Amino acid sequence: MRIGVLTSGGDAPGMNAAIRAVVRAALDSNHEIFGIEEGYKGLVEGKIIPFNRSMVSTILNSGGTILRTARLPEFTKYEVRKVAYENLKKYNIQALITIGGDGTFRGAKALSELGVKCIGIPGTIDNDIASSDYTIGFSTALNTACEAIDKLRDTSSSHQRCSVIEVMGRNCPDLALYSGICCGAEYIITKDTKTSKEELLESLKANRLQGRRHAIVVVSENLYDVHKLAKEIEQFSGYECRATVLGYVQRGGCPTPEDRLLACRLGAYAIDLLNQDVANVCVGIKNNKLIHTEFALALDKVRKESKELMGLVNKLA
Ligand code: F6P
Repeated sequence: MRIGVLTSGGDAPGMNAAIRAVVRAALDSNHEIFGIEEGYKGLVEGKIIPFNRSMVSTILNSGGTILRTARLPEFTKYEVRKVAYENLKKYNIQALITIGGDGTFRGAKALSELGVKCIGIPGTIDNDIASSDYTIGFSTALNTACEAIDKLRDTSSSHQRCSVIEVMGRNCPDLALYSGICCGAEYIITKDTKTSKEELLESLKANRLQGRRHAIVVVSENLYDVHKLAKEIEQFSGYECRATVLGYVQRGGCPTPEDRLLACRLGAYAIDLLNQDVANVCVGIKNNKLIHTEFALALDKVRKESKELMGLVNKLA
């Protein structure tokens, strides 16, 4: 079979390890494997290159994606997808492995409806794919966030300040929740914690009055303007306050062993499924077991907040 592989959407550490796994496992099963550069945009533009074994020999531990990535909102249009489909046909590529998040899976689902055998591999730092316990990149981003928050605690405590730290995750609370717990944040604000701004301000004021000298507030992105929030905290609570947006630094870096292992397992599993003529699914991991889920089902699933982890937030703060 001729198989294509692409990365799409926000890059994530471990995408290269996944590309390598797909390429090596495909060659091991005597398939031909092609890399598609710059995600669906590159597919529409015909940026297709044949892969061989040595082209992926030094990428297992590198961040980013050697195939590069892009977002292509126009891919929702039938006529744009049709061009992508025709380009695959031109190369006689029958199957496509797409590495990315939910937007990537939506694109793959739409292509599968045109007759391409598609498999999605979850690669995003957001951990927002409900059909998998973990996505490739989450572990590394969590490590990066924890390292940064630990450092911010040093300076916050030296200056007796409150530090408001915004972490990524799009609409998924996991990066904030996990990093907040791991760094002993006094407050973790996500869409699920239900802590209102007023409650936060009152509670910080009370803590300050009780003599607590510094505080760490971890906030999920897309909830507040954290610079404005820091000013309000300063005006109301008595703490001097600074805001830090961790931003894109969370998307880079050398993948952790957890992300590398997950990428190796999911990449090889995607090829196993194609060998068994299973397609139009995304792969994932549940309770440490490899699983696959139909695109429609996977995209419908809503990631449930972890009650146990949420319980820790108040108990340990
Ligand atoms: O999907 C990963 C992610 O980094 C999100 O956490 C963030 O909201 C978004 O991508 C940023 O996207 P862009 O690279 O298009 O600015």
